[in-house]
Amino acid sequence: MNTRCEELKHDEYIGKYVSIKGWIHRIRKQKENTFLLIRDDRGGIIQCIIESSKTDNITIESSVEVFGLIQKDSRAPEGGYELKADQIHIFNISKNDYPIGEYQSLDLLLEKRHLAIRTRRMTMVSKIRSSILHFSRKWFTDNDWLEITAPVLVKGAVEGGSTLFNLKYFDEEAYLSQSAQLYLEAMIFSLGQVWSMTPSFRAEKSRTVRHLTEFLHLEAEAPWVTLEDLLKFQEKLISFVIYNVLRNNKKEFEFLKRNVSELENISPPFDRITYEKAIDKLQNAEFKIVDNDSARKIEYGDDLNIESERLLTINSSKPLFVIGYPLQIKPFYVKEDISVPGLGIAADLLAPNGFGEITSGGLREDDLHKLEKRIVLEGLQQSNYDWYIDLRRYGSVPHGGFGLGIERLMRWILNFTDIKDTVPFPRTIRRIYP
Ligand code: 4AD
Repeated sequence: MNTRCEELKHDEYIGKYVSIKGWIHRIRKQKENTFLLIRDDRGGIIQCIIESSKTDNITIESSVEVFGLIQKDSRAPEGGYELKADQIHIFNISKNDYPIGEYQSLDLLLEKRHLAIRTRRMTMVSKIRSSILHFSRKWFTDNDWLEITAPVLVKGAVEGGSTLFNLKYFDEEAYLSQSAQLYLEAMIFSLGQVWSMTPSFRAEKSRTVRHLTEFLHLEAEAPWVTLEDLLKFQEKLISFVIYNVLRNNKKEFEFLKRNVSELENISPPFDRITYEKAIDKLQNAEFKIVDNDSARKIEYGDDLNIESERLLTINSSKPLFVIGYPLQIKPFYVKEDISVPGLGIAADLLAPNGFGEITSGGLREDDLHKLEKRIVLEGLQQSNYDWYIDLRRYGSVPHGGFGLGIERLMRWILNFTDIKDTVPFPRTIRRIYP
């Protein structure tokens, strides 16, 4: 394993002869000595001083191993330790037109993403991302949920036809999965509470700061649960992930200058509001829906969008569940509340400070005839869902689940405007390269 810069920045290493592998981050040449900042393979930095004659042709991003003594010097950046090097081994001299510098246009950073991911900012984001995945998995494992995987090549839509990516599957038409939910539902019959982390795909036609065409989807499904159970699972999962990521990644948050004081207070219970009350609130705030060129007052039956969700959460520091949506704005599988016809037993979770929806879930329609009716009503081709309807033919049980967009969660945790910044290789309507 490689030695990393942070490991060496301790008094016990002073006077020890060590080596470090990495890339040249900055070069400051003087007549006799050259100061190199070496970046290791996790974004750590250490200053090296070496005779200028040994670094004649060195360039930014050249890959090297430097050998020398660790010494303390309060002037050395990032912790006051440096490496007084006597040898340098060069793996590769980087071409001197490395395109990523200190100030770059966003377009260039996306076009050269394979190089831009070497910036320390992106390294810090990726480390936090890795922790989020780790602690999510830990929560499920610790709480007796079984991890499963679901296919990504599928025959049916889950979240409506308008965001489906079609593909030719030999002689058949198929799609990229929008959600693993229907497969998770099939698995609860033999595995109980299950969860998965799979990419989901949405052919989002609009360019927004919170939509990707490919995102990482954490989904969970369990038999014999109530909506209240599902809300509690989400509160606990999200609070656990945030608590642990903040503790585990202090340095990364500091580097990103993310003030985490509000996140430190995230704990169950989250705030709650019914969809109906949310609409009242928006009406009282004179919220308008803009359709093409005209604007009208929001009404019961309208879906929430980025702007309305923002208004509902802009002044809050706790996540907010919006509970009980009209069926017409929810997919075919949402269970109807028999005491309030037309109302779906579903809830979305909105992140605070205006970040908006990060999860969506609820109970699933477990009645065979109602489900069949909904599939027809939505104009879906029943043959593609016959296997799913079987789940209601053979031992149907009340059940439910939810889906959480990892990049949406990250956008909130990192306080980033643009979801593209949360992922190394973002996929959007405009971008599938590199
Ligand atoms: O609200 P959605 O579409 O719900 C489902 O897919 C359910 N079948 C999930 C389930 O119950 N198993 O998506 C769930 C979450 C959203 O709340 C959001 O966080 C994220 O997935 N998401 C997206 N993230 C980034 N880009 C997009 N285009 C997204 N679409 C949904």
